[in-house]
Amino acid sequence: MASIFCSVPQAPPVAVFKLTADFRADSDARKVNLGVGAYRTDDSQPWVLPVVKKVEQMIANDNSLNHEYLPILGLPEFRSSASRIALGDDSPAFKEDRVGGVQSLGGTGALRIGAEFLRRWYNGNNNTATPIYISSPSWENHNAVFMDAGFKDIRAYRYWDAAKRGLDLEGFLQDLENAPEFSIFLLHACAHNPTGTDPTPDEWRKIADVMKRRSLFPFFDSAYQGFASGSLDKDAWAVRFFVSQGFELFCAQSFSKNFGLYNERVGNLTVVGKDGDNVARVLSQMEKIVRTTWSNPPSQGARIVATTLNTPELFDEWRDNVKTMAERVLLMRAELKSRLEALKTPGTWNHIVNQIGMFSYTGLNPKQVEYLIKEKHIYLMASGRINMCGLTTKNIDYVAQSIYEASTKIQ
Ligand SMILES: Cc1ncc(COP(=O)(O)O)c(C=O)c1O
Repeated sequence: MASIFCSVPQAPPVAVFKLTADFRADSDARKVNLGVGAYRTDDSQPWVLPVVKKVEQMIANDNSLNHEYLPILGLPEFRSSASRIALGDDSPAFKEDRVGGVQSLGGTGALRIGAEFLRRWYNGNNNTATPIYISSPSWENHNAVFMDAGFKDIRAYRYWDAAKRGLDLEGFLQDLENAPEFSIFLLHACAHNPTGTDPTPDEWRKIADVMKRRSLFPFFDSAYQGFASGSLDKDAWAVRFFVSQGFELFCAQSFSKNFGLYNERVGNLTVVGKDGDNVARVLSQMEKIVRTTWSNPPSQGARIVATTLNTPELFDEWRDNVKTMAERVLLMRAELKSRLEALKTPGTWNHIVNQIGMFSYTGLNPKQVEYLIKEKHIYLMASGRINMCGLTTKNIDYVAQSIYEASTKIQ
């Protein structure tokens, strides 16, 4: 008898995981992985933040803790401290008691339950027709998350100007102007993935002006707070500005990168509403969504983050740890640019230092990427996106020389 699964089609692999598998299988000693989506030290190793190690030991030694279920919406001290780090302690939204948080499985979980909530309750019941606008390009999971939540009209808004290797502000503003009222816009709070290009405060002001006038809903994705500039406050500027302008909004937060807690799956969905009553009803529905999705969240990552954020000395230590990561990225950016320029690599390379966060959109085309992978064993995404942490003081000369060769040999 044939299997009941015999008509299930084979799904394609997720590009970033496939790239890492290909890298692992490569036995060439020169190989470099610029495709990975996580921080690496100058020895190409994952980094357990010293503050995280310390707090993990505190947790292990704390006999008052147990493994009982957490509340459905998560650990209260985690939810509140996570929202505070996004909005700032002096946010008017806290003073007016109109902020809620939902602990989630990473930033992805926050996006997913946020999307599910919007599909169920935004603009009426079971709303699948509201357009969702996602930047072009964006993190590849954004489209899929909203599609899986049931939205039928997922659109791209202009963001990246390939010729100028920077933000297409005009295109972005036009797409905002032309979007139907009440459309939802997914905005990267900082360190836009994959382009590493963020609007300036002045540009954010223009974006917010149009969004307010046209009643567009901002859904922020904040996966890299602290990573972009090294400053937690600077990286939260856009979200805080929108709150100061009176927007109701969602902000999906991930602590995967800035705490190095990738596999603990710790995130938070911050909800800002007009008043406490609205937020309370939203949270009551979020509870229903979480109940049928993961029922209640895991505790370890949330305890680590909450303890760190709520203890002044640990918080200072964490800020220094984040800065260490951000500064290594900045150093690699400067070093790569100076090497590419010294080699007289065709094109301009200012964008390498102008872009921020972990990723850089190099401008290398798919053929050049293929050359780097096949001939040089340097792994990067087909889009030309590289993770700056894949660069180290040991491999940067080889990478720069290889990019030079790819750029001169292949058009
Ligand atoms: C823009 C963006 N949003 C969300 C996420 C998801 O983060 P998490 O691993 O916490 O689910 C990522 C991770 O790469 C990301 O780059």
